[in-house]
Amino acid sequence: MPEISGRGLSVVIVGASGDLARNKIIPALFSLFCQGYLPEPFCIIGLARTAWTDPDFRNQIEPHLTCRYVPDRQCAEKVRDFLGRCYYVSGQYSSVDSYLTLFQRMQQVEQGGPFDRMFYMSVPPFLFLEVARTMGNAGLLACGDQTPWSRVVIEKPFGRDRASSDQLVAGISQIFSEEQTYRIDHYLGKEVIQNLLVLRFANLVFEPIWSSSFIERVRISWKEDIGVGERGGYFNEYGIIRDVIQNHLTQILALVAMEPPASFRSHDVSAAKTDLLKAVRPADLDNWAIGQYDGYLDEPGIPTGSLTPTFAAGVLQIDNARWKGVPFFVDAGKGLDERVTEIRIRFRPTECCRAVEEAAGPLPPNELVIRVQPDELIRLGIVNKVPGLEMKVAQTWLNLAYKSAFQTLIPEAYECLLLDIMQGDRSLFITRGELAASWDIFTPLLHDLEERNVAPAVYAFGTRGAGQTHASTEEQ
Ligand SMILES: NC(=O)c1ccc[n+]([C@@H]2O[C@H](COP(=O)([O-])OP(=O)(O)OC[C@H]3O[C@@H](n4cnc5c(N)ncnc54)[C@H](OP(=O)(O)O)[C@@H]3O)[C@@H](O)[C@H]2O)c1
Repeated sequence: MPEISGRGLSVVIVGASGDLARNKIIPALFSLFCQGYLPEPFCIIGLARTAWTDPDFRNQIEPHLTCRYVPDRQCAEKVRDFLGRCYYVSGQYSSVDSYLTLFQRMQQVEQGGPFDRMFYMSVPPFLFLEVARTMGNAGLLACGDQTPWSRVVIEKPFGRDRASSDQLVAGISQIFSEEQTYRIDHYLGKEVIQNLLVLRFANLVFEPIWSSSFIERVRISWKEDIGVGERGGYFNEYGIIRDVIQNHLTQILALVAMEPPASFRSHDVSAAKTDLLKAVRPADLDNWAIGQYDGYLDEPGIPTGSLTPTFAAGVLQIDNARWKGVPFFVDAGKGLDERVTEIRIRFRPTECCRAVEEAAGPLPPNELVIRVQPDELIRLGIVNKVPGLEMKVAQTWLNLAYKSAFQTLIPEAYECLLLDIMQGDRSLFITRGELAASWDIFTPLLHDLEERNVAPAVYAFGTRGAGQTHASTEEQ
């Protein structure tokens, strides 16, 4: 159950009129409220340029609140109670006066204090620094992580390459300390991703064979069956490598491949992830293919002749003793044939298998599949005798489907992340060390693609992507 701080909580959402606030942040806060995880008293204050009043803001939010955690008969009352604590201030992001107005509003609604304050930057990335500086100039923030605390939440993408990321980190650090800064990669809040450490380090059947001696290759794959839709303007600035691979898939890779951390405390987990990321050889153009789905150039907000990749696939190598020679295939794409994010770990054939092979013919490999979405699943492919009088073998699957295995609701990633921010648990957030190391892997590739104007191969929408790369040709 929630830690009782004895203080109230204000959540300030800068960019509250946007998609992320409406669809993710506020519904997650409502779910936490329904489960009793928000401190009392609390309030949510949105800031954006759109000229809304409190009732307008509440009307915008209401359709997105779902009562997953309360009986239907209590739903309307919970919604009413929650909406009554939501307020809105219309203002400009770079105006000190707007933040002074916000501050006055906060003081009016923060009754029964003291109040901790969470500032959520739900605005396009180019505004992060300006918002933080203006907020700082308005004197809105407590310094350090003292109580009552002020914490800032920033969404990826954090910069466009190593240099711009460093600039952003340095700029934000002039206003918020590292301890106050929570960099969100929402994949880290997903249940299956949080389980990776437990799966690896709490199961004797996996940890001893988790190395190049037993693992032949790993594939980390992210596929979406839709295009960029209304987010074309944003996506075109970043492309699939910056939007998905440098953050979500690289974080997954770090958790799959890192050495055992000294403890599960945030600084130990981060140290192990950072060491792993530093051991990944920088991605180079020769081992990567990029593509763009046919029709991308006709999407709203996409400039004529854009070379932005909507698909990328390649291989990463990790230069350490555990993983020497094991390829980590990574691929991500939009406009593909299905929506799935999964990790596939293929084991080597062993001497004992060769004996079976002599009796039964070629064997399929053991494979561990960890599916993150759409349905949480862990599957282990084992070689099994097919029942019958003859010696025939086949790969069969041990299935752990979360929906049927656990009679509990699986929390949304944002519920988990917001609760951790309130509780000051930083283990699911990206530290500056991890961020720098992950940009070091991809910055050379990104610069090469841009400096050489590499044209992505066009692929048909709804297919498996572009380029006969290692990842796309390796059928696993
Ligand atoms: N949406 C998602 O699912 C998602 C997922 C992962 C990360 N993120 C990140 O989360 C942040 C917020 O995402 P979002 O989808 O909510 O963004 P958004 O809808 O594009 O922007 C949020 C708000 O910022 C203001 N804004 C937009 N463009 C602006 C501009 N050019 N100049 C000044 N203000 C502008 C708008 O509010 P006003 O016009 O009212 O001021 C808008 O409602 C972004 O950094 C995004 O990269 C989003």
